[in-house]
Order: sequence, then C-alpha cells, then structure tokens
Amino acid sequence: MQSLSGVLASSTLSKSLQEVLTVTTNTCIDISSTLKKGSLAGILGMAGNENVQGEEQKKLDVISNDMLKSALLAIPEVRAIASEEEEDIVPAHTNGEYLIAFDPLDGSSNIDINSMVGTIFSIYSKTGNQPATEQDFLIAGNQQVAAGYVLYGPSTMLVFTTGSGVAMYTLDVDKSEFILTQESVSVPKDTQEFAINVSNQRFWSENIQNYTHDLIAGKEGPREKNFNMRWVAAMVGDVHRIMCRGGIFIYPWDKKDPSKAGKLRLMYEANPMAMLVEQSGGKAYTHTQRILDIEPTGIHQRVAVILGAANEVDKCLSY
Ligand code: AHG
Ligand code: MN
Ligand code: MN
Repeated sequence: MQSLSGVLASSTLSKSLQEVLTVTTNTCIDISSTLKKGSLAGILGMAGNENVQGEEQKKLDVISNDMLKSALLAIPEVRAIASEEEEDIVPAHTNGEYLIAFDPLDGSSNIDINSMVGTIFSIYSKTGNQPATEQDFLIAGNQQVAAGYVLYGPSTMLVFTTGSGVAMYTLDVDKSEFILTQESVSVPKDTQEFAINVSNQRFWSENIQNYTHDLIAGKEGPREKNFNMRWVAAMVGDVHRIMCRGGIFIYPWDKKDPSKAGKLRLMYEANPMAMLVEQSGGKAYTHTQRILDIEPTGIHQRVAVILGAANEVDKCLSY
C-alpha cells in the first residue's frame, strides 16, 4: 500500500509542486476531521449566528477557506490563491511558482444534512518574479499542471491528476495519510446514468429539454435504452460517481438568469473537473466548446457544464 507522500517522493514532479500538493491535501485532511466532528465542533449553522458559548459561528465554507488560505499563503511556493470565498485573488510570494484556485467546500447545501461535500483545487505554474494580479489567473484550463478534489464522504478520498492519468487515494484516518487505492481511473465511453437538476427543466434551452426528454423516454424512445438518474447536489459527489462507474453530469445554461452562462464556476469547479474527466478518457464541454480551451475573463466566471462518458457528451451536444 503506497502512501501519497511515497508516490510523490518517487515521482518526477518538481519538489515545489510536491510541496503544494502536500500542503493542499494535508489541509484537506484537517478539513475532513473538522467535518467529522459535525455539531460537536459547533461549526454547523449560518455565519453570523452565535453558538452556545456566545461565539460567532462560521459557516464551514468560511472555515475551510481560512484553513486552505492560511496553509497555502504560508509556503514560499505559492504566488497567489483564488477562492470561491474570496472576491479578489490573494497574492502571496512574488517568486512563488504556483497559482492555486479552489472551491474550499463544494456542495455547501449538503452540510446541514450530513451529506457529501468536497474541496476542489486547480494548480497553474507561474514564471517570473512579480506580485500576482487577477490577470495571471486568466489562463485556459489546458494549462493546469495539477487538478483534483477531496471528497468528504463515508470515507475521505483524494482524486487528482498531474496530467498523466488519474489516481484515487483513500484517507487512512488513524495515520492521517492518503493511501493509493486506484490507479488509471477510466470513465467508460457509454453510459445509462445521468445527473441534472430537473427542477430547472422549464428554464433550459430547447436542445437540453429534447435531450433529457429522450433519456427519460428510455427503451421506448429514440435512445432505445433505459437511463437511471442520480443527483448528489454537490458537483464533487456527482463527478466522483462518474469517476467510479461512469455517467454524464450536466449543469446547463438556463434562462433563470440569462446573463449567467451557467451556475458552476470555471476556475475552481469546471476546469479542474474537466481535466480529471479528460485524463480518465471522458469529455467535458459547455454547450459550444471544450471547457479546457475557454480563455477565462474573470476568476468567478460561470460556465455551462456537460461532462462524463465521451459518447454520451457527444450525443448531448448533437441535439
Ligand atoms: P457550492 O456549494 O460550492 O456553491 O457549489 C454548489 C454547486 C455544485 O456543487 C452543485 O452541482 C450545484 O451547486 C447544485 O446546485 P442545485 O442547487 O441546482 O442542486
Ligand atoms: Mn462549488
Ligand atoms: Mn463552495
């Protein structure tokens, strides 16, 4: 059984990238143990509320953000971070070699029902010796040097890629370390399982309405096979299911707020998940283009997401 530290040490990755990955994943182990304490740690509830000691409660997204932010800003390898919970980028060391974008806690609506949540991260390298600006982060996802997520489920799992396949690690809680449990993750090209929030159906474009209509028509419809539907309500959980047993995940554009290109965020949700899915043989598109080829215009930019089984993504895009 190989530990993450052993795998990293025997890899060809630079020591500096190893350090960024180690600090990121170790912080996720700390987030995991905070989550496991649940109500006992007085961490549930909304920010702004007071706990029984009269102290202000912080939402777990804020706690997770503070943990990742302070751990990453403390190491010299980091030039800057961008986070869902930070309006602006946070510059760190002018000669740091890496930019890290993260969603500290994905699926926050699941926190108070003790269901799956996760942390998603995306890492870019940065040359030069300048204070970081937002512009530095506006790089297409195809330039990511590493991407991954940690899923806080019944077990805590780390799934990440550095551009040559995807590996899964399971947290050994007693040793506080991630152990390699699956290499060469592969997403089957075909599937009979989809994930989409159907409550938004009336707001979707006609092509997504027609596509899902045909999925639901099953064996009797034009697809001539039955489909199953699953929705974790945390992208990290839905993508993890796809990494484990295949499927397609869709969060399309909808006309609830036509000015928004989608709900999910490009830099710390769509891009890292797209890299993982592609590295596993799947596809990740908006309704018009490959996600990893999008030239970002802002760190909190939203995009439509259609990802998973390659043939099913093609099928969806053909509507
Ligand atoms: P976050 O908790 O980081 O804001 O992200 C939630 C996202 C994503 O994880 C999930 O796929 C989606 O929101 C769920 O949205 P619905 O409210 O439509 O279920
Ligand atoms: Mn999220
Ligand atoms: Mn979040």
